Amino acid sequence: MFDTERWTVLAPLLQAATAGRDLLDDTIRRLTPEAVTQVVLDEIGAHDVRLDLRFDGLSTSHLNTDAELVVSLELTDVVRGLYGTAERPPSLAVQTPHAELGEGGLVAWFRSRKDIARNVQGLLSALRPDRPSLDSLAVAFESDKWGDLHWYTQHYERHFARLRDEPVRVLEIGIGGYDDPDRGGASLRMWQRYFRRGLIHGLDIVPKNLTGPRLMAIQGDQADADFLDQLGKSLGPFDVVIDDGSHLNEHVQISFHALFPHVRSGGLYVVEDLQTAYWPGWGGHTEAGPGTSTGMLKSFVDGLNQAEVRDPRAEGSYLERNISGISFHHNIAFVEKGLNAEEGGPEFFRRLY
Ligand SMILES: C[S@@+](CC[C@H](N)C(=O)[O-])C[C@H]1O[C@@H](n2cnc3c(N)ncnc32)[C@H](O)[C@@H]1O
Repeated sequence: MFDTERWTVLAPLLQAATAGRDLLDDTIRRLTPEAVTQVVLDEIGAHDVRLDLRFDGLSTSHLNTDAELVVSLELTDVVRGLYGTAERPPSLAVQTPHAELGEGGLVAWFRSRKDIARNVQGLLSALRPDRPSLDSLAVAFESDKWGDLHWYTQHYERHFARLRDEPVRVLEIGIGGYDDPDRGGASLRMWQRYFRRGLIHGLDIVPKNLTGPRLMAIQGDQADADFLDQLGKSLGPFDVVIDDGSHLNEHVQISFHALFPHVRSGGLYVVEDLQTAYWPGWGGHTEAGPGTSTGMLKSFVDGLNQAEVRDPRAEGSYLERNISGISFHHNIAFVEKGLNAEEGGPEFFRRLY
């Protein structure tokens, strides 16, 4: 039902990329250098060079294998550049095409070297991704999370910053493009770029043709709790779940209750477009009370402080024990998963006035 096979090489590689060199080398051997090479080639895309990858004394050619411009690198350095902390590949060696001094003399010869530099630089940039802001990624990938209808990325950046370099698992409900299987994916591409070690899953009721080195499109209904539970068991636990699906109040609540148990401790569950909690046509009402998405989220505030009202010996509900923080911004909320187990104030304090 879920293609868990896809992550069998990527997930351990993303974890090991920041480990010491020996451990990473062992991981590459275990996963096989061929499988790891395929992962890094998917990540860096096409470049007009012959890439000579070396591992354990063996060398293999990739990308434009006819090119005379050859860039040699250790496979381990490439993995560390893409997913680890390495600043630049230390083993870089460039072999340039054979050249004769032609008609244009030295001027023409030097000009031709600029193309070589550009091609090598293009490859190196792909191997050492920069860290653009989420706002600029939203613009680059044409996501509506910044600038169209919403100004969400400022809030995302604040809450996600601590997770940016971690090997996170992200699930976003709602891929975009509605009925068109070939449209959508803007935010998923943005997350793939933002979380350079992230596995990004998108769920949509419409089957989507979406490809990307660390993207997975899943077809299903966010109102089907059993299906969501299976999804969580197969592909979770998730560090981040984002609900940007139908925005119907009933769906938002079903999805939250089904998926929150599959969020990792320290992770976040985000609900977008909470304006629908105030819109009767979407299952909301003007006070956004019980039965609406925002009503559900407001009830978690009382859950956070349950220890102040209940019998100190009684255990709270699952949500009371596992929601450790909530942040509301305009039309978007972030629910933090974590232990909520502090004691309440002593009985005599409650009776002081
Ligand atoms: C607002 S778009 C998502 C946009 C995307 N997250 C982005 O930021 O680029 C909402 C998507 O939710 C999908 N959707 C609607 N109802 C759904 C449901 N019940 N289950 C899953 N997806 C649903 C729609 O097909 C649509 O593609």
